[in-house]
Amino acid sequence: MREKIVAGNWKMNMNREDGLSLVSEIQKGLQRETKADVKVIVAPPYPFLGVIDSSNQVKLSAQNCHQEESGAYTGEVATSMLKSFGCDYCIVGHSERRQYFGETDRYINHKIELLLKYGVKPIYCCGELLEERESGKHFEVVETQIQSALQGFKKEELLNLVVAYEPVWAIGTGKTASPEQAQEMHAFIREKLAQVMGEDAERVSILYGGSVKPNNANELFSQKDIDGGLIGGASLNATDFLAIIDSF
Ligand code: PGA
Repeated sequence: MREKIVAGNWKMNMNREDGLSLVSEIQKGLQRETKADVKVIVAPPYPFLGVIDSSNQVKLSAQNCHQEESGAYTGEVATSMLKSFGCDYCIVGHSERRQYFGETDRYINHKIELLLKYGVKPIYCCGELLEERESGKHFEVVETQIQSALQGFKKEELLNLVVAYEPVWAIGTGKTASPEQAQEMHAFIREKLAQVMGEDAERVSILYGGSVKPNNANELFSQKDIDGGLIGGASLNATDFLAIIDSF
C-alpha cells in the first residue's frame, strides 16, 4: 500500500498573515471532511517553518536545504535545523533550483544523504525540459537524474523517499502532461527504483507536478502509478488545494 500525498509548494509567495490564514483554512477544510488516507503537506518558505505547527492533518516541508551539515555558509539552512522546527519533509532538486541556482545531481545526492540522516523525508524532483521531450530524450534524462541522485543509498533508506515527476514544460505554464504521458513516466521511474530496491519500489509514492488544478487532478490521480501531486500555483488558494485533495 502506497501513501497518497498532496503537497503544496508555495515557492516564494505569501506573507505571514496570508500564509497563516491559508494554513488555517486548509486545516478547517480537512476537519470538515476527514481525508484520513491522504497525507497533506505544505512547503512554505523558510520563515514560516517556525510559525506553522506541523499537525496530524497538515505536515510541514521545506523547499530546500543545504548540502553541508553546518558551518560557514551564510544565508543557508541546514537539515538538522529543519528537523528541529518540526519539518518532516524537504523538497530537493526542484527544477527551479536546478535552473536558477545551478544545483547538480551531485549536490542533490548530498542533500538527500543529510535529510535521510536527520530523519527528514526528501521529496525528490525530476523531470525533462520541453526540448528534451521533443527530441525523444525524456526517459534518458529522467533515468540519469534518478540514478545519480539515488546513488549510494541502501534500499531500506530509500523507503523514506518520495519522488515527484515534474516535467519542466508543465510547471507554472498551465500545460499539464496528459494522464497517459504522466503514467508512462511514473511507471518508468518505478521500474528504475525497482532496479535498486526490488519489490519495495511498489512502496514509494511518486507524485506528479506541473499545473495540477482541481479540473485535472482526478484524471491524473486515477493512474496506477500516480500517488498524488506536488502542487504549485493551485496550492496558494485553500479552495483549489482542498478540491485537489478531494479528487482522489
Ligand atoms: P505548478 O508548480 O503547479 O504551479 O505548475 C508545480 C511545482 O513547481 O511544484
